[in-house]
Amino acid sequence: EKGGYPNFMAKEINEQPHAVADTLLGRTDETGRLVLDELRISEDDLRAVDKIVIIACGTAAYAGMVAKYAIEHWCRIPCEVELAHEFRYRDPVVNERTLVVAISQSGETMDTLMAVKHARELGAKVVAVCNTHGSTIPRESDAVLYTHAGPEIAVASTKAFLAQITACYILGLYLAQLRGGTYADEAQAVMKDLHEVPAKIQQVLDGLDRVREIARFMADTRSVLFLGRHVGYPVALEGALKLKELAYIHAEGFAAGELKHGPIALIEPGQPVFVIVPSPSSEHGLHGKVVSNIQEIRARGARTLVIAEDGDEDVVPFADVVIRVPQTPALLAPLVTTVPLQVFACELATAKGLDVDQPRNLAKSVTVE
Ligand code: F6R
Repeated sequence: EKGGYPNFMAKEINEQPHAVADTLLGRTDETGRLVLDELRISEDDLRAVDKIVIIACGTAAYAGMVAKYAIEHWCRIPCEVELAHEFRYRDPVVNERTLVVAISQSGETMDTLMAVKHARELGAKVVAVCNTHGSTIPRESDAVLYTHAGPEIAVASTKAFLAQITACYILGLYLAQLRGGTYADEAQAVMKDLHEVPAKIQQVLDGLDRVREIARFMADTRSVLFLGRHVGYPVALEGALKLKELAYIHAEGFAAGELKHGPIALIEPGQPVFVIVPSPSSEHGLHGKVVSNIQEIRARGARTLVIAEDGDEDVVPFADVVIRVPQTPALLAPLVTTVPLQVFACELATAKGLDVDQPRNLAKSVTVE
């Protein structure tokens, strides 16, 4: 069943090129326009949407945080991301013109389900982004956009995360196309870029021997920090979550810009810090700022593990280790930069002799509030 891999997690990490490719499949017509027949919400209702609220928990919420950057950029609709269990218990501003996107791999997460019901009571239209056919959350939603990652057995989520980002991007591009506006014409170009992502993920997977080796050496590590900016920020949060869940190591993700507002006080000699570096060619222009952050923490003794694009030489003087990923458009970068962090956590946990598929205290679907 594990297809020659030592555990389901390793198998699922390696299935990610397919998870993304299969999620993209059949979502465009022969001219390259997005067609989402499954989205049973009328075009008029979708055109009237003036706010998007993404609700989810855990890794799925981090996929939502990534999607927010892309959806606001492409659609120019305000987009919030909220943990489902928080959304439900405050007094959220939601009405008939709100599109709620509920992301859930299992489709059974009680916190997310309750939030879906709450949103619908308030009049919102709800689209589920889900990996499990016939599960409860899609049934309780107005429409569903399935991720086609295939069954995810390991408790900690990996391939579903990349598929969730992919599906949310498809939704965002579809809305942009439907509503017209500046980015409507970009939808097809971005879809083309997305179709190139599975091969890039494969390239990352094929080059991770050094990450595995480092992870094995770090089995005694007590704490690891993760820094990222823009879409790299939720990737940092996800990298930290994987390490907590799988290896039981204290880990925290930060927005790199927040460093000087507090977390830099944590840096002491030998502290390992992963840094997810944006592409030097990204239009947001954050590359130089993140390189400066690496320089700052290195000067204070941090051990810097830097995830950077091929050809980015600026990071080299300040990196103890450079982990390379192929050149990828800024918004799509999480689909490649997340992968080394998953492998790192999986390998480190394995080196500690832990059961990576069944971490202690966790369940695959959390069906209680
Ligand atoms: C993390 C993880 C959890 C889930 C969360 C939501 O590795 O597995 O954080 O992402 O419990 O689960 P779903 O997506 O099934 O609603």
